[in-house]
Amino acid sequence: MDWANLAFGYRKTDYNVRCYYRNGAWGEIETCSEETIPLHMAATCLHYGQEAFEGLKAYRCPDGKVRVFRSDENAARLQSTCRGIMMPELPTEMFNEMVDRVVRLNERWIPPYESGATLYIRPLLIGTGAQVGVHPAEEYLFLIFVTPVGPYFKGGFAGNPYVITRAYDRAAPLGTGIYKVGGNYAASLRANHEAHAKGYASEFYLDSKEKKYIDECGAANFFGIKNDTYITPKSTSILPSITNKSLMQVARDLGMKVEVRPIPEEELETFEEAGACGTAAVISPISCLDDPDTGKRYDFGSQPGPWSTRLFHALRGIQYGELEDRHGWTRVVIG
Ligand code: PLP
Ligand code: COI
Repeated sequence: MDWANLAFGYRKTDYNVRCYYRNGAWGEIETCSEETIPLHMAATCLHYGQEAFEGLKAYRCPDGKVRVFRSDENAARLQSTCRGIMMPELPTEMFNEMVDRVVRLNERWIPPYESGATLYIRPLLIGTGAQVGVHPAEEYLFLIFVTPVGPYFKGGFAGNPYVITRAYDRAAPLGTGIYKVGGNYAASLRANHEAHAKGYASEFYLDSKEKKYIDECGAANFFGIKNDTYITPKSTSILPSITNKSLMQVARDLGMKVEVRPIPEEELETFEEAGACGTAAVISPISCLDDPDTGKRYDFGSQPGPWSTRLFHALRGIQYGELEDRHGWTRVVIG
């Protein structure tokens, strides 16, 4: 395996783990080597979007151990998503047990530390029961697969250009943006495609009601930095990012102030640094952000700024067991 040149994509591994929900209860955890799933053609995931996923990573650390990062948070977010779209909640212990099992079963696919690649863990929950009327399913499948991945953006920790889109909304103010459901990503595909076609790393969303405040950076949260303060949007239509939540704590630990509040677009001009954050990229510094409708360009410099660099290394250091995990965020799965 050419671990160091892996892209962020799907690669077959040895096993996935599955659990079915039937007759009002979760069944036994099953180990499976099939990549496909048998599915009823009237399954609610296909027709009515009863589909949720999660994303987290396992890290092969320099001390030889394999750690996962804050999987309790992914379990909790999935439970929130389940409440949002009427799916049965999976208990956190079961979620963690399945994460640990699928990582251990695929140990040979966990990239070496030096490669910079990681094992991406993708939990998926779908309504499998048949319905023709618009109702939640009676039956569900929860599964987790893993796949080794390289950096989300080619070049890793380096500045990228983004572009504001006003032509498309990712999510409505009281819609499903706070949940990790597939429909939000379907709603983003065209905007993302158009941004890529124009040479941008990703599209950038303002709030869909007023187009006045910053929402999200494609499939990542936004943060801006000025005056030693980490500022990130408060909004009812963005995904509560576990990376962002962690960065806010790390920022406080490093002596920064943290603000969670609506950020009007004009404030972009005042930020010394800006970044996108998420599991896939940790921090992806924003080099510039264009607003084609106004002709405005917000420039943050092509090199990652000093605070972004410190935050990036502090969080990565915890994920790889190199820095003290004072908040108990990692769990050793192997070693
Ligand atoms: N926002 C969206 C829309 C996402 O899909 C993701 C990715 O999971 C994030 C933000 C970042 O969330 P997290 O840090 O939990 O990966
Ligand atoms: C993230 O981890 O930040 C993502 O946005 C994952 C993406 C593949 C949905």
